[in-house]
Amino acid sequence: MKIFVDTANLEELRAAAAWGIVDGVTTNPSLIAKEGNPIEEQIAKICEIVDGDISAEVVAIEAKAMIEEGRKLAAIHPNVVVKLPLTRDGIQATSVLSKEDIRVNVTLCFTANQAMLAAKAGAYIISPFVGRLDDLGMTGMELIEEIVTIYDNYGYPTQVLAASLRSPLHVKEAALIGSHIGTMPFKVVDSLFNHPLTDSGLERFLKDYEKVFAAQKAG
Ligand code: E4P
Repeated sequence: MKIFVDTANLEELRAAAAWGIVDGVTTNPSLIAKEGNPIEEQIAKICEIVDGDISAEVVAIEAKAMIEEGRKLAAIHPNVVVKLPLTRDGIQATSVLSKEDIRVNVTLCFTANQAMLAAKAGAYIISPFVGRLDDLGMTGMELIEEIVTIYDNYGYPTQVLAASLRSPLHVKEAALIGSHIGTMPFKVVDSLFNHPLTDSGLERFLKDYEKVFAAQKAG
């Protein structure tokens, strides 16, 4: 599964990119606003740090304006993927931009039928939000399973991006289901490294080594 980082923060992206395991970045208007720079500027900086798909979301809500904004965002860098919301206007804009070979990530997807519409419009990526469904007492991961099945049934090339992943368990479940991509905040990527037996095992290895070779050096 490809790992995307869901952040517009440059320090977090530099740290994650240094590990060599980051395949892309997702942003949204809330994440861009948190960093305080205009979207074009922030996305250009992100593209210098991570070499992979970088999603940049439009803020227009009408199809014509979304298409114009999408074209401008796509012109920032060849790695930019234009993010559009799953509305009637968003799907219309997806159809137009996809035909121009501009890659579109359709976001705010909460049902399998919505995901089918995005695939039919030619979306490059569909983003179903797992955590936000869990917040409502539903099982968000079931949606990932449904979409993966429907896309497989019909051979839709649209990639499933499990979004709004909030924990290492979410990441593992998305990967087991066969989601093509998982996007998660930096702290969730960081948490994927952790296991207490890794830490205690390493401590023990180093102590054992030190015991013999530190003694030899002293002697
Ligand atoms: C995905 O592209 C969204 O930006 C993100 O995953 C939303 O996550 P949240 O529900 O934790 O805000």
